[in-house]
Amino acid sequence: MRIAISTGGGDAPGLNAVIRAVVLSAHHRGWRSYGIQRGYEGLLSFNGVVPLGPAQVRGITHLGGTILGTTNRGNPFHYISRDEDGKEREIDRSDDLVSAFHASGFDALVSIGGDGSLQISHELWKKGLPVVCVPKTIDNDVSGTQRSFGFDTAVSTATEAIDRLHSTAESHDRVMVVELMGRYAGWIALYSGVSGSADVILLPEIPFNIEKVCDKIRSREAAGRRFSIVVVAEGARSIDGNVELVERRGVGTVDRLGGIGSKVARAIEVYTGKETRTLVLGHLQRGGSPTTYDRLLALRFGAAAVRAIAEGAFGKMVALRGSDIAQVPLDEIVGRPKNVPLDSDTIVTARELGISLGD
Ligand code: F6P
Repeated sequence: MRIAISTGGGDAPGLNAVIRAVVLSAHHRGWRSYGIQRGYEGLLSFNGVVPLGPAQVRGITHLGGTILGTTNRGNPFHYISRDEDGKEREIDRSDDLVSAFHASGFDALVSIGGDGSLQISHELWKKGLPVVCVPKTIDNDVSGTQRSFGFDTAVSTATEAIDRLHSTAESHDRVMVVELMGRYAGWIALYSGVSGSADVILLPEIPFNIEKVCDKIRSREAAGRRFSIVVVAEGARSIDGNVELVERRGVGTVDRLGGIGSKVARAIEVYTGKETRTLVLGHLQRGGSPTTYDRLLALRFGAAAVRAIAEGAFGKMVALRGSDIAQVPLDEIVGRPKNVPLDSDTIVTARELGISLGD
């Protein structure tokens, strides 16, 4: 067996642990592994296929990023090519990819990715490519699995940032607004906001009323708490719908979220008169060494992906279900992002702790 491994889309802590587990589990069965560099670019636009054995994956479990590189501009179905005059246009290169895959003599593909990569894998599977997926994203918005690896690390980083903001906010009697990643799901903001004792948490799932946010800050002030910490998910929006900032990039690329934190901060300053500062934590949430939880999950996912190949379970994603690793058909999950349920225990807990969710 010759197994190809691809890491596409935004990186997440734990990618290297998955790669290591796939390579070692395959090696254990007497199979060979190959890494495709920079998503599918290593098959589509340059000669980027590298053999991976135990020596190549030694000592990488704890490393952030991906040794294979990645891109979120490499969708083979909407491939961005540049004309001679420098103009970008979109073409379908999926057949080129399938041909290159077979020409390389691969028997199976392990695709490690988030929602975008899962959609690509699903389309490739429908074209006959034997693929098994591993859910990766700090956003935790892939359905069919309780967790994607990378999320726990991002939440830990965000919680530490919120902890650090407390002392400076209190010293200066300020409101600190921290904007966190997560795209259209509020998992990172909710988990780190509750753990970091935020006073207000704004999620994409619960449109916020800026007046309610300011009420919370004023009531803390009245109680002698002259500082507040406001956590805002980058995909949060106000009830009137116009406090969301989405920047659109070039052809065939995904929306880039960001900017809501400073808008919320400005509104708080105007309505409450309190000095307010903003922090956008940004890509710090994607960087660094994976937590123990993410390492173990990533290693388990990688080994389970090779097990799935051994069983011929293609067109599936390995997933965390309780304490077990399950296999979920891609048909059941693609295009169905997982949001925070409004009746989830963590939401109920936040409200019972007196945290304002802006509604
Ligand atoms: O999906 C992961 C993620 O980090 C999102 O939380 C964020 O909106 C996006 O990727 C940022 O993407 P980029 O690295 O392209 O700026």
